[in-house]
Amino acid sequence: MKIFLDTANIEEIKEVKDLGILDGVTTNPSLIAKEKKDFKKTIAAICEVVNGTVSAEVIALDWETMVKEGRELAAISEHVVVKVPFTKDGLKATSIMAAEGIDVNVTLIFSANQALLACKAGAAYISPFAGRLDDIGHDGIEVVGQCQAVVDTYDYDTEVIAASIRSTAHMLQCQEIAADIATIPYKVIEQMMKHPLTTSGIEQFLADWENAVK
Ligand code: G3P
Repeated sequence: MKIFLDTANIEEIKEVKDLGILDGVTTNPSLIAKEKKDFKKTIAAICEVVNGTVSAEVIALDWETMVKEGRELAAISEHVVVKVPFTKDGLKATSIMAAEGIDVNVTLIFSANQALLACKAGAAYISPFAGRLDDIGHDGIEVVGQCQAVVDTYDYDTEVIAASIRSTAHMLQCQEIAADIATIPYKVIEQMMKHPLTTSGIEQFLADWENAVK
């Protein structure tokens, strides 16, 4: 499974990259706003750090402006993937950009039907949101699994990004459904590394080492 970091924070990105586990980064308007820095400069800075794809989202809702914004974002770096919300205009913008060779990540996907349409429009990536489905009483990872099944069954080139990941439990479920990619907040990466038996095991080894013949 590829691991993307779901953040626009450059320090978090550098730290996770140095662990040797980073395959890409996803951002969205909320994550960009949180950093309080220029959007395009932030994306350019992230692209310089990451040896992988960096999703940057369009703001427009009409297809023509989506395509215009998408072309501008794609011009920042070869690493940029243009993120487009799933709407009718989003599908049209996706098909136009895909035909131009621009990779598109169709985001805000909440059903396998939406996933199918995005794949057919030529999305390089689709992002079903697990946590937000959980928020309204659905099983988010089940829907991510259904989206993954669409891609696998019909052999689309599209990769599934399990998004809106909130917990280590989500990450275990992503592995069970064999998600292509999970995009994860920094906090969840930290949680994935922790295990109380690892901590106590190290403490025990160090305590025993005190009594070893050296
Ligand atoms: O990858 C999408 C993500 O940023 C949304 O996460 O927790 O706001 O639903 P969340």
